[in-house]
Amino acid sequence: MKEVILAIETSCDDTSAAIAINGIIKSNIIKSQGVHSNYGGVVPEISSREHQKNIILVVEEALKSAKVKKNDLNAISFTIGPGLLGSLLVGCSFAKSLSFALNLPLIGVDHMKAHVLSNFIDNPIPDFPFICLTVSGGHTQLVLVKDFLNMKIIGETLDDAVGEAFDKSAKILGIEYPGGPIIDKLSQKGNPLKFKFSKPKVSDLNFSFSGIKTSILYFVKSQMEKDPEFIEKNLNDISASIQYSLVEILIEKLIKAANKYKISNIAIAGGVSANSLLRIEIEKVKKIYNWTTFIPKIEYCTDNAAMIAIGAHYYIKEKRFDDINVCPNPRLNF
Ligand code: KG4
Ligand code: ZN
Repeated sequence: MKEVILAIETSCDDTSAAIAINGIIKSNIIKSQGVHSNYGGVVPEISSREHQKNIILVVEEALKSAKVKKNDLNAISFTIGPGLLGSLLVGCSFAKSLSFALNLPLIGVDHMKAHVLSNFIDNPIPDFPFICLTVSGGHTQLVLVKDFLNMKIIGETLDDAVGEAFDKSAKILGIEYPGGPIIDKLSQKGNPLKFKFSKPKVSDLNFSFSGIKTSILYFVKSQMEKDPEFIEKNLNDISASIQYSLVEILIEKLIKAANKYKISNIAIAGGVSANSLLRIEIEKVKKIYNWTTFIPKIEYCTDNAAMIAIGAHYYIKEKRFDDINVCPNPRLNF
C-alpha cells in the first residue's frame, strides 16, 4: 500500500506543510512570517495568529503541488515540540481535526529529531552511527545518531543558541531579524580576520555563545564612541569577523566530537547549517580527517515540513502513533 503522509510544521515563525509518498518528498510549502522583522525577534502571540491565518492555504498548496487529494492521505503528522506553545497548538489542533475528520493515524514528530532526519530526504544518506551538528535559532546540539529515532545529545549550548548569537549580533549592527542570513551575505565582501572576539572556554562538547555576543556588543559600542560611523564603514568586515568566530567554535567542537567518538560520518542540520562559511569549512575539514559529510539542501535546513514528513515516515516504521488527546510539548527534549 502507498504511504501518503501530510506533515505540518508550526513550531516557530514558518508555517509549512509537506507531502511524502513512500518516504519521498513530493511537496514542501513554506510561508515565512516577515512581520517579526519589525520587532527585532519572533513575537509568540503574533506568530500563532499568523499560523492560524496561513495554515489552510499552506496545506492546500502542499496537496495541490503534490497532486494529492485529501482522501489519498493515510497519515497526518505535525511538530509536537520543542517550540512556541501557541504556534505548536495551531499545527497540533489542525492535524488532530484532519485526523479525526478523515479517520487517519496521527503522528507527533520531535522537531529536533526531524532536523537530523532532514539528512535522509535526498541521497546520499548517512550510515549509522553518525554525528549531527544541529544548529538553529533555539538549539546548538551535537547529536550521536545510532538509528533513525535512536539519538543521544553529546554536547549542547549552556546558554544562547548559535542562531541566536547570529541574530543578536546582527541586531547590534542594526540589521533586522533574522540577521543570520544577512550576516552571511554581508560577509561575502568582508575580511573575516579584521576583528577578533574572545572565544568561550567551555569544557567537553558543550557550547556557550552568550560571552561572545557580549564581547561583540562592547567592542562595537566602544568603537562607535570613537567614530559614530564605525558600523557603516566596517559593516562587511564586522559581519565576516562575527561569522568566522561563530563558525570556528562550531567546527572545533565538531572535530572534538568526531575524534572522541571515533566517528567519521558527519552531518549538519538546522537553520544555521544554511550558512555558507559553515558549509565551506566542513568540506575543508572533511579532507583533513577523512570524513564523509552530509549537508542538506538549503530548503531543508531552515524550518520546513518536509523534515517532519520524513520523521513521520520513520515513526510509522516503529508504529509510534499518537491519540487524539495528544498535546504539544514546548520543551520536548530527547
Ligand atoms: O532551524 P531554524 O529555521 O529555526 C529554529 O528551529 O530555530 O533556524 C533559524 C535560525 C535563525 O537564527 C537564523 O538567523 C539562522 O537560523 N540562519 C542562518 C542562516 N540562515 C538561517 N544563520 C547564519 N547563516 C545563514 N545563512
Ligand atoms: Zn528548527
